[in-house]
Amino acid sequence: MTSETRPAGCYVYITLPGETRPVTAGRYELTTDRRGSALGRFVYGRSYRERPDAVPIDPLDLKLGPRVYETAALNGMFGALRDAGPDYWGRRVIERHAGKAQLGELDYLLCSPDDRAGALGFGLNVTPPAPMRLFNRTLDLAKLQAVADAIVRNEDKADTGDAAQIEELLLVGTSMGGARPKAVVEDEDGLWLAKFNRPDDRWNSARIEHAMLTLGRSCGLTTAESRIVRAGGRDVLLVRRFDREKMADGYRRTRMISGLTLLRTEDTHRARDRWSYVLLVEELRRVTAEPRREAVELFRRMCFNALISNTDDHPRNHAVIARDRDRALSPAYDLTPTSPVSVERRDLAMSCGDAGRFANADNLLSQSARFLIPAEEAASIIDDMEARVKATWYGVARGEGVTEKDCRLIAGAFAYPGFRGVR
Ligand SMILES: Nc1ncnc2c1ncn2[C@@H]1O[C@H](COP(=O)(O)OP(=O)(O)O)[C@@H](O)[C@H]1O
Ligand SMILES: [Mg+2]
Repeated sequence: MTSETRPAGCYVYITLPGETRPVTAGRYELTTDRRGSALGRFVYGRSYRERPDAVPIDPLDLKLGPRVYETAALNGMFGALRDAGPDYWGRRVIERHAGKAQLGELDYLLCSPDDRAGALGFGLNVTPPAPMRLFNRTLDLAKLQAVADAIVRNEDKADTGDAAQIEELLLVGTSMGGARPKAVVEDEDGLWLAKFNRPDDRWNSARIEHAMLTLGRSCGLTTAESRIVRAGGRDVLLVRRFDREKMADGYRRTRMISGLTLLRTEDTHRARDRWSYVLLVEELRRVTAEPRREAVELFRRMCFNALISNTDDHPRNHAVIARDRDRALSPAYDLTPTSPVSVERRDLAMSCGDAGRFANADNLLSQSARFLIPAEEAASIIDDMEARVKATWYGVARGEGVTEKDCRLIAGAFAYPGFRGVR
């Protein structure tokens, strides 16, 4: 895809640790190689490299240095840049705004606003623009939800409605990843990711996700802070942005790379052979400041996902963040139960042991050494968590306002029979 108006590159900005204003880190160019395939190039600016406080954009694949990095993967997009761009939901919004499907990777990056995940920004000028001051407010949620509903209703349609509607689309924000309708909103405490229920949801997703974050925390996971608010007579889940810290003069930002980037893979089924907790823990051990702590935490998350049948635990639902120099797992987010018909075998989205993706205790235990956990300790983590999930999921869900009817719908998610079934 080419277009004469489409820029062939952009500057990449970064907000450094402790700062609230971005600086220019480097330049990204999207070109084609001799055979016509997409080729991405990134180079750090010299003045950035020479800063004493410079940090790499990606500790594995874009280390600080003078070289020109090239990639042919991901249509020429570097993983760490892709992580800062929109995903299914944001792309839908941008496409409807632009009136066409299938824009270039660069369009998606440049079209999305500055509330994107992590510490990066993108623009056509060598000097970064001043940070955005105005965010949607939590008070605007009912309106944002109505716009999101309209996008969901027209998901399969190419037409974009009238001009006023099109402008409204961008109000919901496009920069955060994921597929569910969402927006970024601000209150006096800071920034939140608002996740809306879809009119066609089988259950109250917002409230159930909130309950799963609470249940996860009680099972020893570090989870994102969340709360439920009402907008337009419906529940909305607010998840506190763990990559923003409100200061008197703006926001500090936390660098963030997804599990997809750590695994050097992408969101397609073709790339799935690298979707693996066992591979992910190896990478985590290489890049985080406290490898053993992070490895145990990832093990717990994997077990928890198996115990609540969260089969949407793909690598973009895991991330590593860095507030200063040190990297750690982000708090857990997007914890959603499913209730499939099969009670014998359920598969996580990522491989979790010798028997592949099978959400089963023996399978989870089979590679515990890679998580730096002795077999006995791993077994007792699983036993304890299983007992707690079984005994408390219902109380936690009801306590967080999940209805009796919704509890019945999700009951089959928890500690399903195959979790202890034979491999
Ligand atoms: N609390 C948070 N703070 C910062 N970024 C977040 C937070 N929660 C999620 N994200 C980012 O936003 C993306 C979408 O959020 P997610 O909850 O996964 O939505 P979806 O249900 O649509 O997949 C995630 O992939 C992650 O990059
Ligand atoms: Mg997600």
